[in-house]
Amino acid sequence: MRVLVTGGLGVNGSWVVRRLVEQRHDVVILENRDDRSLLPDVADDVRVAVGDVANSGQVRSVFDEYQPDVVVHMAAIIGADRDPLAAVRVNIGGTAAICEAAAATGVARVVYTSSRAAYGALTGRHGHPDYVPVTEDHPRQPVGLYDVTKLSCEELGRWYARNRGIEFVSLRFATIFGPGKLQRHGGFSAYSSMIELPAAGEPVQLAHGGDQRDDAIYVVDIAEAVVAATLAPTPLPHDVYNVGTGRTVSLHELAEAVRDAVPGATIDIGPGLDPMGMGISYYGALDSTRAQVELGWKPQFTLGAAVKHYLTALDRLELLPARSPSPDSQEY
Ligand SMILES: NC(=O)c1ccc[n+]([C@@H]2O[C@H](COP(=O)([O-])OP(=O)(O)OC[C@H]3O[C@@H](n4cnc5c(N)ncnc54)[C@H](O)[C@@H]3O)[C@@H](O)[C@H]2O)c1
Repeated sequence: MRVLVTGGLGVNGSWVVRRLVEQRHDVVILENRDDRSLLPDVADDVRVAVGDVANSGQVRSVFDEYQPDVVVHMAAIIGADRDPLAAVRVNIGGTAAICEAAAATGVARVVYTSSRAAYGALTGRHGHPDYVPVTEDHPRQPVGLYDVTKLSCEELGRWYARNRGIEFVSLRFATIFGPGKLQRHGGFSAYSSMIELPAAGEPVQLAHGGDQRDDAIYVVDIAEAVVAATLAPTPLPHDVYNVGTGRTVSLHELAEAVRDAVPGATIDIGPGLDPMGMGISYYGALDSTRAQVELGWKPQFTLGAAVKHYLTALDRLELLPARSPSPDSQEY
């Protein structure tokens, strides 16, 4: 099957691409720059079309040239609040351009990577300290602009499905951690920083947040879910699926798993909630029963196994961040 993956050179996309290549699918990646550093192992097994997903003309030429059977649409701006117009242009405009081209060229299905952000804050029994998992029917109350763009794209896709005959399937991911995230997204993910910094011999210090629990899912489990949704027989019974572990882990528990795997790791985290200081309680668990039943997907990684796999992958793919220079190794 020929699969077009937008954003396929990103942190999550690279694992989706890797899995599709392993299964011998023909993968074409649409990206705005040809940086294959997160997938050096399969770099020669894919074709990269450089273009902007928000440029409908460029998107249409890529569809005309490569004639994909199915599309995985992952390209997006994550830090949306920093530049609202760019985020709307790329996240919403890009999704419209992908749907338009898919409808015009007979693509059977678009798999869209949405987020738990569509639910907004998780409060009451779904928040601290109970974390009762939410199902797909939970009210959608987006807060940040990123959340708004994700939910808007789900609705936009529904419109295309109703009116233009494509199947549009949204996957609402929990919080993802995976190799390369620290390099690509900076300190945006406490989970990835807590693994990648010790792996590079760097200390981790977080003033507060060690008691915060969240549904943190390993990127390889995410990739399996995306591939399952991509290859499932059409049509699927639903157009939206939660993809999470259904459980929560605390940062203190993650720190323990990292100390087990990286002897001598220095990780100091204060107590309390909201390690990233977001001020919005996005933290909680996703009930992914629907994905388990209808996509045949189930997360495979325990926290400890994910940390070990993560560390091995950093090494194998040569993604370890550079160590900070020690005071006596400074150059003049
Ligand atoms: N990381 C998470 O925890 C998480 C959670 C929920 C949902 N998601 C979603 O998963 C998807 C992938 O996230 P990620 O963490 O891999 O992000 P990422 O930034 O690593 O990857 C996104 C890729 O899209 C590309 N891109 C950005 N703008 C583009 C444009 N205009 N045209 C073409 N390509 C463009 C970037 O170059 C990048 O490689 C996103 O849609 C994101 O919203 C991520």
